[in-house]
Amino acid sequence: MDIKFATSADADIAVFVLDEGDGLTEAAAKLDETAGGLVAQAASSGRFTGKTGQSVSTILPAGADAKVAILFGGGKPEDRKSVAFELIAAAMVKSQLKSGHETAAFYAAAAEDAAKAAEGAKLAAYRFDSYFTKMKDDQKPTLKSLTIVTDDVAAAEAAFEVASAGTDGTYLARDLVNEPPSHLYPQTYADRLVDMESEGLKVTILGEAELKELGMGSMLGVGQGSAKESKLGILEWNGGGDEKPVALVGKGVCFDTGGISLKPGPAMEEMRGDMGGSAAVVGTMLALARRKATANVVGLVGLVENMPDGDAIRPGDILHSASGQTIEVQNTDAEGRLVLADVLWYAQEHYNPEVIVDLATLTGAIVISLGHEHAGMFTDQDELGKALKQAGRKSGESVWRMPLGDAYDKLLKSQFADMRNIGGRAAGSITAAQFLKRFVNEGQKWVHLDIAGVAWRAGDKPPTDPSWASGYGPRLLNQWIKDNYEG
Ligand code: BES
Ligand code: MN
Ligand code: ZN
Repeated sequence: MDIKFATSADADIAVFVLDEGDGLTEAAAKLDETAGGLVAQAASSGRFTGKTGQSVSTILPAGADAKVAILFGGGKPEDRKSVAFELIAAAMVKSQLKSGHETAAFYAAAAEDAAKAAEGAKLAAYRFDSYFTKMKDDQKPTLKSLTIVTDDVAAAEAAFEVASAGTDGTYLARDLVNEPPSHLYPQTYADRLVDMESEGLKVTILGEAELKELGMGSMLGVGQGSAKESKLGILEWNGGGDEKPVALVGKGVCFDTGGISLKPGPAMEEMRGDMGGSAAVVGTMLALARRKATANVVGLVGLVENMPDGDAIRPGDILHSASGQTIEVQNTDAEGRLVLADVLWYAQEHYNPEVIVDLATLTGAIVISLGHEHAGMFTDQDELGKALKQAGRKSGESVWRMPLGDAYDKLLKSQFADMRNIGGRAAGSITAAQFLKRFVNEGQKWVHLDIAGVAWRAGDKPPTDPSWASGYGPRLLNQWIKDNYEG
């Protein structure tokens, strides 16, 4: 779906947001003059008063300036949250995408509202349907073009610039997470990264021989039982002169069976999404490239598949990480941290980053703690935590801070090695974060985001999240980098 801003539009569907208790907007009244009063009639029909969440639509007579008018309640302007126009535009796209109509005009006079509407519409228009071979014509989208009608086109375009790139990243992250493990495994994933050179990113792929040379025995241990070769993918965007880079590190477990500590059968197919952290990183890198960000950012993704096999790692095995620390594997299903341990080391060793953010679908425990509303955030740096929290509020991808502390770290003690890879039943997300912290150098700024609860979602969802994968991450990180690492 093509989205553009203009000061007027000629479209099949006309969409207006009415303030609660107010009559038609100027634009709606103008359409109404060509529609014999039907729009005004709709605005006062049934229970419609303009409250948030309400909507009413009407067919317009032949000769009117549109075929259909849809009115949405905008609530009272003074109570309106900044996401209001995002959600309204998304609801409109959701209801009209397959309506048979091809063009829509969404009226949002203020530039900020117009930009939010564009963002919501784009998020809602996402589809992942390339594997359906028998789709009926009436299941295919028809809406091809959406014009956001606004007073100041240049201001709306400027307000949409950062978010537009962010949503490009969201689309890519969704595609990667939705993609099945039969089609997206380390090699094919790496191929897709190499394709991103055309976006102006520098791309490096390391294979198992190189990872072995580097001593990355922790990450390689995870991929040991898989027929697929493990890969480290590195994407660089250098738009920030000689500044130290921001490093984004992602867990890219293309499928997580649990390994020898096999997961139960029900819902195991969801573990196709266990590369959601890496997808967030890759999507962010695309966003930065699309808007030519004036920052230096390196994205590193550890791509593996966790399979049970005659050659797979066993509970009791001891792995040698690249940092030199040894790890007793007590549960092969706590594999994400084993991957991240070595990728974190690589990021620090090779890039001397200003700050590291790692993202991972790391623990089921974070879903129990925070559900599907916030990612769990772990950091020792209050300022960094605040900045991410702020970017979360702005972007709509929210984070909630969780604690770290020595008492949790002690739970990782092993009688055979420097640490074990699980901490026991209590505080599962925190002990996982403490494990990662052992691979972060003293003084290094670092944040860990556990996105296991927000990377995908079944059931009732907002219209901005139309597919299984949410594509969580790029909007948050794109906003955070924009606000904190660009002049
Ligand atoms: N990928 C899973 C975590 C996960 C669970 C993500 C559910 C999304 C939804 C991770 O590798 C895992 O299996 N973690 C274990 C850790 C445990 C063995 C200490 C878990 O959470 O059960
Ligand atoms: Mn696991
Ligand atoms: Zn996992």
